[in-house]
Amino acid sequence: MADTVIRNATIIDGTGAQRFIGDVTMEDGHITEVGSSTSGAATEVDATGLVLAPGFVDVHTHDDGALLQHPDMEFKISQGCTSVVVGNCGFSAIPAVVGQRTLDLSGVQANWTDLDGYRHDVEKSGPAVNAMMLVGHNTIRSLEMGTERRAPQDLELDRMRQHVELAMEQGACGFSTGLIYRPGRWSETEEVLELAKVVAPFEGIYATHMRNENDYLLEAVDEALDIGSKAGVAVQISHHKAAGKRNWGKVKESLAKVDAAVAEGARVTLDVYPYTAGSGPMIQYFDIENPNPELAQAIQLASCPAFRDYEGRMLIDVAAELQITAPEAVRHILTAPEGKQTICIQHTMDEGDILSNLRHDRVMIGSDGIPDLSGRPHPRLYGTFPRVLGRYVREQGILDLESAIRRMTSLSCDVHGLADRGRIIEGNWADLVLFDPDLVADVASYEDPKQESLGIRNVWVNGQMAFSEGTHTQMGKGKVLRYRKH
Ligand code: ZN
Ligand code: CU
Repeated sequence: MADTVIRNATIIDGTGAQRFIGDVTMEDGHITEVGSSTSGAATEVDATGLVLAPGFVDVHTHDDGALLQHPDMEFKISQGCTSVVVGNCGFSAIPAVVGQRTLDLSGVQANWTDLDGYRHDVEKSGPAVNAMMLVGHNTIRSLEMGTERRAPQDLELDRMRQHVELAMEQGACGFSTGLIYRPGRWSETEEVLELAKVVAPFEGIYATHMRNENDYLLEAVDEALDIGSKAGVAVQISHHKAAGKRNWGKVKESLAKVDAAVAEGARVTLDVYPYTAGSGPMIQYFDIENPNPELAQAIQLASCPAFRDYEGRMLIDVAAELQITAPEAVRHILTAPEGKQTICIQHTMDEGDILSNLRHDRVMIGSDGIPDLSGRPHPRLYGTFPRVLGRYVREQGILDLESAIRRMTSLSCDVHGLADRGRIIEGNWADLVLFDPDLVADVASYEDPKQESLGIRNVWVNGQMAFSEGTHTQMGKGKVLRYRKH
């Protein structure tokens, strides 16, 4: 007898193919039957009127530490996500030094040095979702060169290469950069290229938060494409956007560049989150000596350990209250004790650019959520996937449901090497989400961001029900996956 059969579901299989009505059976963690099921099962689920899709894959996350700190991963499983790609923007929890804080955005205490050690600890914590690792440039550069503002010496570059190689041997899917951040921004293209070359024999990917996402967006796309072609690796452009009003609309030009490169044989894909604000560590966006006044106008405080009462507020309102200028308020926050831990939200993007991204068939969905639950995180942490399905598919008809799901599942798995996932076919892992297409919607807002979405009924991870009608079952069957391995 099978473990579970889901009957009469509207199956959207993840490939982009038209929906059909049918049953799906699972046993021992895998999908064993698709179509009409004749076998009985221990658990029967009536899915009449509901959509059954492969579990969503959040390809752009900073959940490296969250898998240990919040193994129930409620903000992801409640969106229908069954896997997350960690180590983005050049920040990864590996490599690390035992007993020290990791050099990703979570800064958890490491009990490991490499991906094998991290995998062991994460799987022991029983995470609700699976994870795939990218090894981050900022992390390995910090480990080998500290905060040095120069090119690496040969020995340093060699050691960085070894970190990338070890991560790939242990099952990472590729190498990531965050070239807008310190210390990544101190690197020349040559250094990044040398490290990207290391993933080529593994057929891994180069995922990049590019050097610039505003006035020099197009030049930054050129650099990313150039690294991809010279290293002979596939490129993933992270959270594709054009920040700053004078740059709005530019994403069409960068998508055209991508199309041209693909026509020439390059392998290039992108991800996007469906919001007009970004978020990240505030210290990374400002020069404390001379904070950019234009950017300061657009800042909202997400988590601010130095001044908890500022969380959720616009910086300009805080500045007005303190009777100082916005740049002075930036300095006031960043120089306070713990001020450097501040996470901010930047309201700098254009809705039209989101639509251009969502319409493009090489753009997948990635939240870029920062799981610091102490403050008021950007709502993308809780709302990304239901927001695409509700606001952009159902309400605005920007893309159809089959296409949206393909770009949350099979495309994401193919590019990031999540083998035997992302499609509802016999033999694949049973990572599945059952949702109501008429109800699915995000609820998380900038004011009240830690809210689960509507319309997600059930989520199965590796064949076990992890989420059921708003209840977290704490099954914790997630694994740290190995690139392209079953
Ligand atoms: Zn980024
Ligand atoms: Cu990111």
